[in-house]
Order: sequence, then C-alpha cells, then structure tokens
Amino acid sequence: MTATSIEGQGALLRQCVTDVKRDIASCAVELGITKDALDAAIQTGEGARPICDAMLAKYPLSAGDLLVEEDDCGADGFIHYSAEFTDKSGRVIPRKNHNGDTAPYYRYMDTAMSRLAPFKPELIEELVYVDNNDPKNPLVVYNKGHLLTQFTWFVGPVNFYHIVRGVKHCTEFNTGDTCFITPHVPHTFASRDKDHPANAKIVAVTFSNVAREALTKIVHFDAQQFIRAAGNRRELETVLAPQLKRHLQLSGQFVGDLAKSIGNDDGITEDALDKGTLSAEQWNVVKKQCGFDASRYLPLLAEEEVVLQVQGADQRARPLATSRHFPDFGAFEVRSTTPTFDLSSQLWQYLYNAEHGTPLTIHLANGVSFVMGPGDSAVLKPFGNATAERVQTDSATVSLVVVRCPGFASQELMHEMSLFAQKGAANMGTQKSAWW
Ligand SMILES: [Fe+2]
Repeated sequence: MTATSIEGQGALLRQCVTDVKRDIASCAVELGITKDALDAAIQTGEGARPICDAMLAKYPLSAGDLLVEEDDCGADGFIHYSAEFTDKSGRVIPRKNHNGDTAPYYRYMDTAMSRLAPFKPELIEELVYVDNNDPKNPLVVYNKGHLLTQFTWFVGPVNFYHIVRGVKHCTEFNTGDTCFITPHVPHTFASRDKDHPANAKIVAVTFSNVAREALTKIVHFDAQQFIRAAGNRRELETVLAPQLKRHLQLSGQFVGDLAKSIGNDDGITEDALDKGTLSAEQWNVVKKQCGFDASRYLPLLAEEEVVLQVQGADQRARPLATSRHFPDFGAFEVRSTTPTFDLSSQLWQYLYNAEHGTPLTIHLANGVSFVMGPGDSAVLKPFGNATAERVQTDSATVSLVVVRCPGFASQELMHEMSLFAQKGAANMGTQKSAWW
C-alpha cells in the first residue's frame, strides 16, 4: 500500500472506534487483542487490516466506511495512459444486428482511469459503416442505456443515435463535436468512413454521480421505492409532490395539515398538494407557509436528455457539451497554452490529448512532469494543481479535452464541510486521538 493509504487506514480505524463510542482499552478487549496492538495500528496504520476485519465482524460498521482503497494515482496524484497502452488494451465486441447477422461492432480500448476517480472512460472505434442517417438503420444496434452519465468526444465521421421519449434520432458528428448523455438513455454509434470504418471513433467519458456511488447501499432496498420517491422530471408535479411530503416528514406533518394551515383562500386543496398540481403562485404560498421551495426544481426538457454540441467559438478554452441538470460537471477543449494553461481544480479531471493535437507537457505543482502525446489520456486528482505546456513551439494545433466532475468531492460535501467548527475541521482525516 502507499504511505497515504497506510496512514489513512490508521485514521479510519480511529474514526470507527470513535463512531462506536469505545476507547482504545475497551475496544481492544472486545476484539481480543492488546491495547498496544490497536494503538499501534491506529498510529502507524501497520497491521491495521486484520484489525479492521475484526471490527467489521464485531460492530455494525460498513466496510465502505472503514477500509481505505489503495491510491493508484501514486504519490504525485496522476495516472497517465499512452496512446500505445490504450491501443494494446483493444478488444472487439460483436453485436447481432436487425438483419440477424452477428458482426464486429465496436473495438473498445481503455483510457486513463483510477479506482478513486468517478471516470470510466474508453476509446471506441466504430466498426460498422452506414451509408445513410436513418435512425432505424437495421445495421445499428442501440444499447439499453446505462447508469453512468456519459460525455462523448467525437473523432472522425461518426453517426450518433439515441432514443428520447420513444423517438429514435440520428446526428452526424465530426472531430471536435461532443454530446452529453443522461443515464439510461439508449444510444449507439456508427461510422461514415466506408474505406476505414475504424477511423470513426469516440472517447466515451462515462462517469458516476450520486446514484452510482449509492448503489452499494441501494441494492439492499427495493430500488423502485427510490425511483417513485424521486419522481420524473419530465412531469414536474411527480417530483414536487414527493419532495413536499419529504419536507413535511421532517417535522411530522402531512399534506392535510398543510392544506388546513393555508386555508381555502388560495384554492390549495389537500388533493392538489398530494398530487403536486399547483400553479407557480400557489407554490409561492406553500413556500411562505412551510418553507418548501418548488422553484428549485427544474423540469427536464426533451432536448436536455441528450445535449448535442457541435464545434463552436474558437476560444482558448472552448466549452463542450454540458447540462444545467449536472451543475457540478464541466468540459472544455484547451485550444491554446500561451504560454501555459492552468489546470488547477477542486474537481477530478480527465484529460484526453486529441489525436490531431500536439504533444503537451503536464507540469505538476510538486515539480514532477510528464508528456502527453496525441491520443494519450490522464486522470488528475482534485487539488493536483498542474499546468499544460506545448512541447513544440511551432503552430501545431493544441487540442486538450478536459472533463471535470466531482465524484465523492460533491457540492454536498463542500456544504457540510463549510459548517464544521474550524478547530476540529483541521484534524479531519488525520485524527488519531480520543474525541474528548
Ligand atoms: Fe454509452
């Protein structure tokens, strides 16, 4: 394990002893080990794993709350995959098309990823050639959609197909275009390059958000309960009704109580509150009465289920496809590094140096640097301050795709941490002494 993983495991062990409100002596007795052994594991992290296993067997603790993942980003906080390494990971996966023929469909290749990062991005060659833009082309096999959200960077002449609200669409894309696909929207891709279909490629930056992060807990429930409580943003009242009830549940109230407290003047009935079918003015009355703010909830429009972005303004950092429903996600293409481009970020970063781009040097704040050739990819940890600089000083095109999203470092995390008493906050993640 890396030094930070070992050190972190000691701190997590201490946190769990604190969580179950034991002191070192009583916890050691209950685990059948010596106080010195437990104390040493906490202070150094050495020998902590078997003690963690004993903790998980003894106490109602979650492995995910106790066991520290190995940090595969290493001491310098990055992972770099060369284009050659990516190419060697290639595997062809066939699909059966609607003519009944099974043929090679995609060649998948790994690009940079870390077990700690939210990204699971791959480079995909489209092996099926199509000679038209018919979204019902029998050669095209849609997937079922997937839980991970997907940002897509297009390379070469790619047809992009997707299904929104039962309607199939086909869009022609070329190098530098992008799209943003919300979870579970069925989609697929094909090539318009007749002679060399594999020249049409995508970088599919799939990434996890809150739902994927929660899945290890959700599997212990009926997921449909959560789906029903979440509602459907395409019909906003189905979101507002359960959210209002959730708000009222915090104080042991019901929509009937709320209807009575509002009275009849505004025409707000218990039935309307139960179904969420109120006008904007009526929701304002609800807000004044109980604090529930319906205006925070945006509807999901059909054109927002998949956001299409063709090449736009030639800026130093050109905006790529994003969604107002994912406000903590961002993507842009660095077109110029004059003389460098600052890659400092609070968020996880996925970098892809486009195949038509020039080699770039990524300089990290600690003095370490590495070169990203065309087709190379990298993942940078949050706060891994870095700059990008072109290797050659000629006029070769800079085209660095930067995708940023939070993973565990979410807005909710920032909100909670901003409330911490400041003295205690300074010890977060390193606390190794008792809580009193
Ligand atoms: Fe996908």
